[in-house]
Amino acid sequence: MQSTLRKKLLDAFTEHEGEYLSGQYLADLIGCSRTAVWKHIEDLRHEGFELEAIRRKGYRIVKAPDLVTANEIRLGLKTSIIGQEIHYHETVDSTQKIAHRLGFENVPEGTVVVADEQVGGRGRMNRPWHSAKGTGVWMSIILRPSIPLPKAPQLTLLTAVAVVQAIGDCTELEPHIKWPNDILINGKKVTGILTELQAEADQIHSVIIGIGINVNQQKSDYPPELQSIATSLAIEKGEFVNRAELIQAVFTRLEKLYALYLEKGFLPIKLLWESYAISIGKKITARTLSGNLTGKALGITDDGVLMLEDDQGTIHQIYSADIEI
Ligand code: BTN
Repeated sequence: MQSTLRKKLLDAFTEHEGEYLSGQYLADLIGCSRTAVWKHIEDLRHEGFELEAIRRKGYRIVKAPDLVTANEIRLGLKTSIIGQEIHYHETVDSTQKIAHRLGFENVPEGTVVVADEQVGGRGRMNRPWHSAKGTGVWMSIILRPSIPLPKAPQLTLLTAVAVVQAIGDCTELEPHIKWPNDILINGKKVTGILTELQAEADQIHSVIIGIGINVNQQKSDYPPELQSIATSLAIEKGEFVNRAELIQAVFTRLEKLYALYLEKGFLPIKLLWESYAISIGKKITARTLSGNLTGKALGITDDGVLMLEDDQGTIHQIYSADIEI
C-alpha cells in the first residue's frame, strides 16, 4: 500500500500541475526532511517517472510512465473516496480474490486493488477473463453502501454507466451497454463487470466490483475464437490509450454516480443506464439456465431486472442470462 507521505507528494504535484515545487516547500507540506523528499523523488524516477530538478526552482514531473501503479494513478487523481487507498500488484491471480480478503479487513470504502496482469482472472459464470500484462485495466473496487441486499445489483448497472462515461471522457468513443453489464463498441465486448457481495443475513458488508477493460491490445493479441467478439479501446480508437488516466476517469465518474445514487436513489442511474443500453426496444434472445426466451426487451426494473415481452405479450423478468441481439 502507498505511504501517506508519497500520497501527499503526488497530491502536491497534482495540485500544482506543471509547476516546479521546491524541496523545502514539499518537505514542509508533507512534514518530512528534504532528504526524505529527495528519496521519494528517486523512488519515482526508479518507477519510470521523468522528473526535472532545477536549482532554486525545485522539482517538476515531466512525464509519467504507462503503468497502473498506485503512484501513477494517484498523480492527477481528484476523487475523495474511490482510490484513496490503492493496492497495486504487478501480477496476481485475480484482483477480485485480493479484494475479497481486504473486504473482510477494515479497509476504507473506495479501496482499490489493481494489477498489471492477472493469471487467473475470472468473469461472470466463472468464465476465464484474459488479462494480459500491460494491456488493460484489471481492478476491483470495494464499496460499503448501507442499502438492502436485493438492491446490490443496481451497483453493477451504476458501474457500467460510470465506465461508459469514463471511456467517453478519455477516448471520445461511444460505447453501449448490453444487459446486464457488458460494454460493447461496434458490437464487440470491451469491458466486463463482475459484482460480488460479502453480506451477513440481510446486511451488506462489502460490494466487490471487478472491472476489466481491454485497453491497448491489438487484434493479434486475441486468440482466434475471441477476435470476432472482443475488442480494445486502442483497436477502436486507432491509438494508444493511457491506462492510469482511464482509471482516474472511472474513479471520478463512479464517485459522482455513487453519491447521486446514495442521495437520490436508483431512478437517475436507471435513466442513464437505459440511455446507453443497446438492447432496449429490440428483439433479443435471453439464454438462461432454464432455456432460451425470445422477445422484445422493454427495459429494466428498479432492481435491475430485465423485462422481456414475448410474442404472446407475456412479460418475463430475466434475472440472469446471456443476451443475443
Ligand atoms: C465478465 O464480463 O464476465 C466480467 C469480467 C470481469 C473481469 C474483472 S478483471 C478485474 C477483476 N478480477 C477478476 O478476476 N475479474 C474482474
